[in-house]
Amino acid sequence: MKDASKIFEQLVQQRRSMRQFDSTAEFDPESVTRSLERATLAPNSSNLQLWEFYRVRTPEKRAQLAKICMNQNAARTARELVVFVVRKDKWKDHSQWIWNSYKSSFGEPPYDKGQQKTYNYYNKLIPIIYKNDIFGIFGALKKMLLFFASLRKPMYQQGTSKDTSIIGHKSVALAAQTFMLSMTAEGYDTCPMEGFDFRRLKKFLNLPRRAEVCMVVATGPGTKEGIYHERMRLPNDQVIFEI
Ligand SMILES: Cc1cc2nc3c(=O)[nH]c(=O)nc-3n(C[C@H](O)[C@H](O)[C@H](O)COP(=O)(O)O)c2cc1C
Repeated sequence: MKDASKIFEQLVQQRRSMRQFDSTAEFDPESVTRSLERATLAPNSSNLQLWEFYRVRTPEKRAQLAKICMNQNAARTARELVVFVVRKDKWKDHSQWIWNSYKSSFGEPPYDKGQQKTYNYYNKLIPIIYKNDIFGIFGALKKMLLFFASLRKPMYQQGTSKDTSIIGHKSVALAAQTFMLSMTAEGYDTCPMEGFDFRRLKKFLNLPRRAEVCMVVATGPGTKEGIYHERMRLPNDQVIFEI
């Protein structure tokens, strides 16, 4: 095994969901800053970066958020909480930002074939996927057209509001995992949580209607008692296949 592989193995083995944090041990908040900056480097769909990460640090705000997380132990005892949010409503701004970044390196049109592909991707395809109306009519229509087109050849068939939510949650979950592994590397523990009141949490963060909370991650120095049981995983042959 290469050295990096050994280190990674150690981090993955070490990361456990911590339900009881130590309130007195030393904690460096800069580790959260570094880990969130690393989280922004996670792979994400079309590089649209439809995410936001909210740090909750003061005792008052932490207590409020713990209540929204139904007073789970991990939330109550965390030294910091980070809320990972999906902002699929920002697709237009972000695709424009990405396209402008490309454009400044492309120079003046006419574009070559690759550049034209990038133009089409961010200016034509992304709007087709992400544009939806509140009644879901456009999404259903897209789905139907794509289904018929897919009868002839393999075709991307995502385009409803639910599809774009799933796309967003996949990317944000990868950012959350990057954050958690980074906090492990910093010598601290984490606990991902989806046990919270969505409506109250969105209100707490002052988020718009179309924003969605992916998960809350509690972090801080862990305790022995905070690991509730030995790690349990299904046997590999039940989940890893070769075809
Ligand atoms: C999306 C997601 C949501 C979770 N929600 C909670 C939660 O609300 N409360 C909690 O104590 N643990 C929560 N967990 C932690 C899981 O229970 C935990 O990852 C699982 O039991 C495996 O244990 P391990 O993380 O120690 O390997 C969540 C994990 C994930 C990935």
